[in-house]
Amino acid sequence: MSRRPHRWVRWPEPLTTENARGPLGFGADYNPDQWPREVWDEDVRLMRQAGVNIVSLGIFSWARLQPTAETWDFAWLDEVMDLLHAHGIAVDLATATASPPPWLSAAHPEILPVTRTGETMWPGARQHWRPTSPVFRQHALAVVEAIASRYAQHPALAAWHVSNELGCHNLYDYSEDAAAAFRTWLSQRYADLDGLNHAWGTAFWSQRYSEWDQVLPPRLTPTIPNPTHQLDFKRFSSDALKDYLRAEREILDRLTPDVPVTTNFMVMSHFNGIDYAGWADEVDFVSNDHYVLVDDRARDELSFSANLTGGIAGGDPWFLMEHSTSAVNWRAINPPKAEGALVRDSLTHVAHGADAVCFFQWRQSLAGAEKYHSAMVPHAGEDSDVYRTVVRLGGHLERLAPVVGSRRRQARAAILFDIESSWTLDLEANPSSSVSHRAEALDWYAAFLALGVRADVLPAGASLDGYDVVVTPVLHVLPAATADLLREVVDRGGHLITTYFSGVVDENNHVYAGGYPGALRDLLGIRIEEFGPLLDGDEVVLDDGSVGTLWTDRITAAPGTEILATYKTGLQAGRPAVTRRAIGDGSATYVSTRLGADGLEPLLARMLEAAGVDSELPEGLRGRVELAIRTDGEREYWFLVNRTDDVVGLGEPGDLGEPVFSSGADLGDAELAGSGVAVFTRAAR
Ligand code: GLA
Ligand code: GLA
Repeated sequence: MSRRPHRWVRWPEPLTTENARGPLGFGADYNPDQWPREVWDEDVRLMRQAGVNIVSLGIFSWARLQPTAETWDFAWLDEVMDLLHAHGIAVDLATATASPPPWLSAAHPEILPVTRTGETMWPGARQHWRPTSPVFRQHALAVVEAIASRYAQHPALAAWHVSNELGCHNLYDYSEDAAAAFRTWLSQRYADLDGLNHAWGTAFWSQRYSEWDQVLPPRLTPTIPNPTHQLDFKRFSSDALKDYLRAEREILDRLTPDVPVTTNFMVMSHFNGIDYAGWADEVDFVSNDHYVLVDDRARDELSFSANLTGGIAGGDPWFLMEHSTSAVNWRAINPPKAEGALVRDSLTHVAHGADAVCFFQWRQSLAGAEKYHSAMVPHAGEDSDVYRTVVRLGGHLERLAPVVGSRRRQARAAILFDIESSWTLDLEANPSSSVSHRAEALDWYAAFLALGVRADVLPAGASLDGYDVVVTPVLHVLPAATADLLREVVDRGGHLITTYFSGVVDENNHVYAGGYPGALRDLLGIRIEEFGPLLDGDEVVLDDGSVGTLWTDRITAAPGTEILATYKTGLQAGRPAVTRRAIGDGSATYVSTRLGADGLEPLLARMLEAAGVDSELPEGLRGRVELAIRTDGEREYWFLVNRTDDVVGLGEPGDLGEPVFSSGADLGDAELAGSGVAVFTRAAR
């Protein structure tokens, strides 16, 4: 499957911006079908006032568009499309298939997903459909066909929005439809049952299959289910929805070949289900939804996810389809955003390549499951701080139009994010259930931020060309071919840094024998006989004074492998904790415990110094300000995001380039407001 070329939003003419690629997109999910007609006029007035130029329309409108199996009602949507167009607002038109109407599930209960424990997921919320249901697909594709035919020529149509957050609630379906599709998927992956029996290690616990029909989704079992069975089911579930995405897209491609197609991904820490790196090739541009955490890692996680979205998009600009102006309503407790956070969060995404900033949703609902979720126009209405901030943000985005179309400038360091390692660590019966691929990756990312050094977050499998330092946190699943790519980095003089529990299993989740970490043992010049996970709350002290949690290893270092730190306490006292093997001009470093962002900072500083990778920020800004750089080949745009709530002095104006923009403009160009964002430009290198 070849990658679809990057195609951006098709902005309606005339473009009211100095950038030939159009404006920065600004808008929201728009749900006019929840409101009486007179509110629509008020909506477009307020949208214009705020500078909104694009909305996602009709996401949950199936029941309104097709009230019964035989009847359609497009009149209201025609009117909304025309109204938006008349006011210069483009439409990212949804295919409306996210939430099937009651008549469909009543007539065809066989579309309803089934949980691992055999319960039906009934209608009453949304996304109550099986990804592999042929009946659902037939009805949904009829809706896509009807909408695409009707609006193919509509001048407001700027992009297609396939379904919504595919797999948010229905990713894992254990129904009979899923069982049949899973078998088909498996028979394509493994030529025959021998292949499957080998991969799944079915010699263990008498699980050998002798007929394909015996193979089921991993439904509730008496004890620990087969781990490779589960890993394959995760792969399959991600692929099944990708297949569904393609089915909708093929109709759109046929009816409107000139209109780009996207669907909103969920690259954020609280969703771990889909292999988005494998989905990026299926859309014309990547879109993402992101909701900030409410803990002390929130800012770093936001930056990490935005950065990873850019990596998944291959460095191309992407579309921030949803985030929130303030509180969400799906946590137990939902505090509002602090002052400054709305603008900072939005512009952090732009810094990492977003060319559109949109929200869920335009107008806060008065009824329904999301009535306490913030919006661009809150319950309080136009006379509110949230709406005033939205208007201010619209002005900011207008001034940032010159960045549209620019790509991220490759950093010298990369951090790999590997969804399969993340999935595998989430399974049962590992040495520690507390190990998290994402948490360790975020620790390293935060250490880079603290040092003021840019690192690109890349999906595993992305090209590592040109990176001087490659960090692979808990890269647990490591196929031999990927291990070769890491070896190549070191062979060309690059520096690999990896951690505990990496390189332990292959793509079948089988352990490499002969001592851990089998796939990296020679490269790292170490051999581990036994893992030493730590109980929650336990700590070990290293001889450099740093403190480890979560994990230790019983390591023997090969001759020539340097020992950078040794355990002083715990079961491994006296043994190596951090090792480094020099190979030509390159090196391979192993960190066997969780040091946390603070503990990693001095270690990473040493590694970066050895690799000759320095911060691009003036000294006084490092750690306090995050730097992201976009470039269009001629100009570079340096985004500075204040990581603190205090004013930060930017030093000599001119050092950073010519000022383009500052969110705290009243401070001038030499100071950055707390949580503020400033952009400077200079000629590209
Ligand atoms: C997701 C969905 C939206 C809405 C928001 C609320 O992102 O796509 O429809 O439910 O969550 O946070
Ligand atoms: C029990 C079972 C064994 C094995 C061990 C593992 O004793 O009989 O088959 O699963 O537990 O602790």
